[in-house]
Amino acid sequence: MTQRLFFDCDTGIDDSLALIYLLARADVDLVGIASTAGNVPVDVVTANNLAWLELCGRPEVPVHTGSATPLVADLMTTEDTHGPLGVGYAELPTPTIAASPVDAADAWIEAARAHDGELVGLVTGPLTSLATAIRRDATLPARLRRLVIMGGAFHTHGNTTPTSEWNVAVDPEAAAEVFTAFGTGGAPGPIVCALDLTESVVLTPDHVVRLAAAAGSTPVECPDPADERGLRSATGNEIIRHLVDALRFYFEFHDDHDEGYIAHLHDPFATLVALAPDTVMTRPARVAVELTGTLTRGMTVADERWMSPSGPNARIATSTDIEAVFDELIETIGTFARGRALDIVGTAPGESAGLV
Ligand code: RIB
Ligand code: CA
Repeated sequence: MTQRLFFDCDTGIDDSLALIYLLARADVDLVGIASTAGNVPVDVVTANNLAWLELCGRPEVPVHTGSATPLVADLMTTEDTHGPLGVGYAELPTPTIAASPVDAADAWIEAARAHDGELVGLVTGPLTSLATAIRRDATLPARLRRLVIMGGAFHTHGNTTPTSEWNVAVDPEAAAEVFTAFGTGGAPGPIVCALDLTESVVLTPDHVVRLAAAAGSTPVECPDPADERGLRSATGNEIIRHLVDALRFYFEFHDDHDEGYIAHLHDPFATLVALAPDTVMTRPARVAVELTGTLTRGMTVADERWMSPSGPNARIATSTDIEAVFDELIETIGTFARGRALDIVGTAPGESAGLV
């Protein structure tokens, strides 16, 4: 059954993998993409989304640009994590397609109204665009079939402050307004993929080897911490080559921060959950966001024992089969990248073209 999905992201390296996975799923109708400022400024997010769409042969998917700044806070970006252009060392072709004139918030509203009750919403960046959409149309939450948010940290250390996760830390007011909006009016609460679980989705160089092999890309490269910094991929498949360049930057960043030569695939995991929510265990909670704490601003606070008079407004993802996550991502993206290479040149690199 085709699932209709609206994707709101701050493309970024892991957002890029999430987008390619969505494009690789023939059973997903990607209704639109909202570009939200976060990892990099919103115009860079927009350019990355357009570039990936063209590389993947999907120029028809509309890309919408959100606000240049959060609702209240000054914009905070993280080029040290995702690279100067948000895609690590990858140098994506300059897109020849343009963003839609409809802004990200109005695109949320139009998509939810056009597919009332059917649309799956997925947010892998700050919640600025979604919160703005809800300010403009309070009926939006109840129109969504499902909402999945990558964000928050509940019983684990933050990755931006000791108590706050990046997507929430960039725009705490937006996150607070979204969680409040889903606590009323009968809208099903979002599934929240927080660091507690997403930091268990640990990509290693061996997974990159498997991905290149699944795409039939040669040579198969295995990024190594001993490699020269910034070494560029020479593998034949264009999508895999850009992904290897992006992921190498991500590996180096995590290694530099004593997490090992690995990468956390927060957003691709949330994407799998958006399309197959039964693949995760969840627990209900009342989630709110601290806005005024000197040390705790941007902290996501979960009431999991009904201490607050209001009932639950979210479901926190608590466990999943991590190996199955990687099997699905590698197989789906690898097969898609292989097919894309065939579309482009008629033959996979290294295979003969026609009769010889
Ligand atoms: O905290 C991880 C999240 O922040 C991911 O979505 C990553 O892309 C960044 O946006
Ligand atoms: Ca993101």
